[in-house]
Amino acid sequence: MRKKEVKHLISIDQLSTQEIDNLIKVANNIITNPNKYKEKCNGKILATLFFEPSTRTRLSFESAMLRLGGNVLGFSEASSSSTAKGESVADTIKVVSGYADIIVMRHPKEGAPLVACHNSDIPIINAGDGGHNHPTQTLTDLLTIHREKGRLNNLVIGLCGDLKFGRTVHSLISAMSKYENIKFILISPEELQLPEYIKKDILEKNEIEYIETNDILEYMSKLDILYMTRVQKERFFNEADYIRLKDYYILDSNKLGKAKEDLCIMHPLPRVNEISTSVDNDPRAKYFIQAKYGVYIRMALILKLLEVE
Ligand code: CP
Repeated sequence: MRKKEVKHLISIDQLSTQEIDNLIKVANNIITNPNKYKEKCNGKILATLFFEPSTRTRLSFESAMLRLGGNVLGFSEASSSSTAKGESVADTIKVVSGYADIIVMRHPKEGAPLVACHNSDIPIINAGDGGHNHPTQTLTDLLTIHREKGRLNNLVIGLCGDLKFGRTVHSLISAMSKYENIKFILISPEELQLPEYIKKDILEKNEIEYIETNDILEYMSKLDILYMTRVQKERFFNEADYIRLKDYYILDSNKLGKAKEDLCIMHPLPRVNEISTSVDNDPRAKYFIQAKYGVYIRMALILKLLEVE
């Protein structure tokens, strides 16, 4: 008999727009009827293997599994696991897949979750690998856009900050490029521009319109979404460059003067200085509700990968 194929989520590209739309539909249903879902994962265990720091991704996955009636185990830093003794990712995964039903992992090395899924007979979810991918942040972003704007098409999206190392931006561009009439305004200093391969392989290949600028105000009045990002200190080789670039953009109330009244301001968080706290009370600031939506879309994803009806 053929072995059943195990489903993993390593990159957002694995999901069709129909699958994304279905996940959003389930997440919306969970928001409306949480009680219907509270025993869906009774007896199931989620393992969170975090080789890099996290607040939102790890805790929202744990919250998601607990809200589905399941249990959680795991570690939150490589130094408290046997990685510190030299154990490989492949061996860790082979062992943990005997302790849990589904694994969420974050790792500083790009491609580590792919190695994991080749060594696992339970689903693996990539919770961020280096500067590469962060598919469940993208699902969170898509649910946020859908709930706040009511659509995933016909949008002008400003992406601002560290577009070079920001994995959330890379995954979001990839996902949004599948929807109709999307235009990107790429706002970054020259050193932190979007990598050429993303421009060529995603934007140009799919004939998606984009403009590059280093001026956050230039297109502010045109934006439907402003997605701010943190300069990724942990990916810099040179501290002097980080210090020079870290406060390049600080969004404050003055800069929103010409913005649309229904602009949706997003940020994957954590924020450092790139959004002034004075913006937090602006009704257009959606970054804290965005973090909360992460729980519901991750609940929907766990149900999908565990094939729970
Ligand atoms: N947005 C995000 O991935 O946050 P954490 O690093 O806290 O998980």
